[in-house]
Amino acid sequence: MKLTLRVWRQKNADATGAMSTYEVDGISQDMSFLEMLDTLNEQLILAGDDPVAFDHDCREGICGACSLVIDGDAHGPERTTTCQLHMRSFEDGDTIDVEPWRASAFPVVKDLVVDRSAFDRIIQAGGYISAPTGTAPEAHATPVPKPDADFAFEHAECIGCGACVAACPNGSAMLFTSAKINHLNVLPQGAPERETRVLDMVAQMDDEGFGGCTLTGECATACPKGIPLPSIAAMNKEWLRATRKARR
Ligand code: FES
Repeated sequence: MKLTLRVWRQKNADATGAMSTYEVDGISQDMSFLEMLDTLNEQLILAGDDPVAFDHDCREGICGACSLVIDGDAHGPERTTTCQLHMRSFEDGDTIDVEPWRASAFPVVKDLVVDRSAFDRIIQAGGYISAPTGTAPEAHATPVPKPDADFAFEHAECIGCGACVAACPNGSAMLFTSAKINHLNVLPQGAPERETRVLDMVAQMDDEGFGGCTLTGECATACPKGIPLPSIAAMNKEWLRATRKARR
């Protein structure tokens, strides 16, 4: 395949970025999108140019590091992570736009790399359980009803990639934050911090400058792990419950 790539280039956080156009040839349909970018970078290095900076780690769809807006869609045309997107989703001769996540809470660091440490600070605010140290308890010592276990597991699938924020016209992090709250709040292990978790994590989310939710649903559509939109309603219910309890 021969492709034309229009890639966002930005030297650093303070520089003004712009789209640059590159031609790449000899791309196999079996390559992942990141392997295609590796090919572009080899070409740029051989020509003595600066390679395109982009985030990646596992390249297996599990770490959440990869983060590209491809032709206007977070993670591209398939419902998967950028690293699991393959070139068979494109046609020979295509022109493809490649941009970083666009959200004020995710400032560009360089080229296609953005700073997602705001997510880390939301997790630090309450996305954990307090557990006594020592050996792990027997797995069945704390019974969890099957529907609660399923609910927790569904939300624990969030890999924190930030596609929800990038896809949202408001730059809202409600889907990410709700997934991280819900998967702990429903479990007995998460009960001791149930109220402080939701209040502190939502407050931190607001402090980081993420936008509000207007239920456009783009977040759930873009999520490569299928975190459902009602996750946000469940978080709001937890927040109201915790607020009422704090007032009492
Ligand atoms: S690089 Fe780990 S999910 Fe894509």
